[in-house]
Amino acid sequence: MDRSTAAVRPHARRACRGRQELRERAAEVLWANWTGTSTVPSRALYPHQWSWDSAFIAIGLRHLSPLRAQLELETLLAAQWGDGRVPHIVFNDAVPLDAYFPSPDFWRSTTAGRRAGAPGGVQTSGIVQPPVHALAAWLVHRADPGLSRARSFLARLHPRLAAWHRYLLHARDAGGAGLAAVVHPWEQGMDNSPCWDGPLSRVEPAPPGTFRRADLDHGARDDRPTDRDYGRYVRLAADYRDRRYADGAPPAGDGGAFRVEDPAFNALLIASEYALARIEDAIEADTESGVTDGGAVAGPAARRARADALTRTLVDRLWDPGRRLFLCRDLSAGRLVPERAVTGLIPLLLPALPPDVAAALVRTARGPHFGLGGPARLVPSYDLTGPAFERHRYWRGPAWFNTNWLLAHGLRLHGERVRAARLREELLDVAATSGFAEYVDPYTGRGRGARGFGWTAALTLDLLLDGRAWARDAAGAHGERGGLSEGEVWA
Ligand code: SER
Repeated sequence: MDRSTAAVRPHARRACRGRQELRERAAEVLWANWTGTSTVPSRALYPHQWSWDSAFIAIGLRHLSPLRAQLELETLLAAQWGDGRVPHIVFNDAVPLDAYFPSPDFWRSTTAGRRAGAPGGVQTSGIVQPPVHALAAWLVHRADPGLSRARSFLARLHPRLAAWHRYLLHARDAGGAGLAAVVHPWEQGMDNSPCWDGPLSRVEPAPPGTFRRADLDHGARDDRPTDRDYGRYVRLAADYRDRRYADGAPPAGDGGAFRVEDPAFNALLIASEYALARIEDAIEADTESGVTDGGAVAGPAARRARADALTRTLVDRLWDPGRRLFLCRDLSAGRLVPERAVTGLIPLLLPALPPDVAAALVRTARGPHFGLGGPARLVPSYDLTGPAFERHRYWRGPAWFNTNWLLAHGLRLHGERVRAARLREELLDVAATSGFAEYVDPYTGRGRGARGFGWTAALTLDLLLDGRAWARDAAGAHGERGGLSEGEVWA
């Protein structure tokens, strides 16, 4: 048995009988994972606060407690560094050091991160995760605008969110074309995706005896990344730490070991730019004065124009018309990575995507590589026909709830509402039968990894409680092919 399941209360493992029970079980998971100021993704496997997990969790939590959802994002953003980066982990100092690796004594944020502006009062990692936060902040605000205004939620978060996007679009523009680059597979969030096999092959792994993995105390070995991949993750993170988390040109000899422009990371940044423009509209309406982000972008109209332009850059840099999919660009090798992974479908989220590109993406999602609508129950993390496909190993095949939730929204945006509604039904069924698994076998929906997983429960709640819009779609009330505006999808 996967040992991570032993720590989860029995309720999360029982199959849910109906939607009402599913809603109650999902809420119980979120309450069980709440620490008082934020939510752990999993009590056993991930016992601290993770950046993009918190964003997805806040999106679900807003339906239960808009106040807690606001606190979730506030806690994360309070740990932001002076250079604008939002760390991928905020450590809870009440948790023993050996409960998770790499622990705070590996990252040494308060010393090695001082020059980059790491906060002194909290320990964090020094790398980032996908920027879903402005989108989450907007949705959290919408759940209770009165509470949000009373607590000046948007006005307080706005400078932090704007600085976060500035950091990514400037300090991380390693390719010089305007897109953000990731410098570690954990930053993109799909840790052991086959997309990284090429770029990671240039990285000399840290020797096995020099670190101890804590994940294998809780997760099944066959569901997790290999030791060799871990050695490379450790090497990359240690080198970045030893460079004091400095961005910019890598030193001679390092070879710019891992620098990748990723479709999902950049699509989420662009989607969050549109959300930040909405946040700016709302602040301007409340204060009757203009908002800027500190100089670089003059207000919401300029931000929307930049998001449209970034979408064009994404298409120019990462679209592969032959594969009808977005690919990762390996900046160190100067080429696209020829692997089909779910990251390449996520730009479907973007409202300014050219219609022919959106239509081609939908065809790819439905085709043999991703199996949307059959034979896969949920869209896998990697090409079902690919040589590196492994149906149970983390991001090398299993289906994840956050990527499928994002795709469902992208399908709605581009007029595929009945398909989106069907995907929503599968997500709800699989969440129920898998005990809110971290990820699942894409064909059968059987759970793998942790159970009682935070974002699985949160996004289940979101799909359930945002139900009226989906129900209209399922009934074909909008007409099967009518697209929604960006504002309607994220209302
Ligand atoms: N996802 C990584 C882990 O498994 C790090 O964020 O710990």
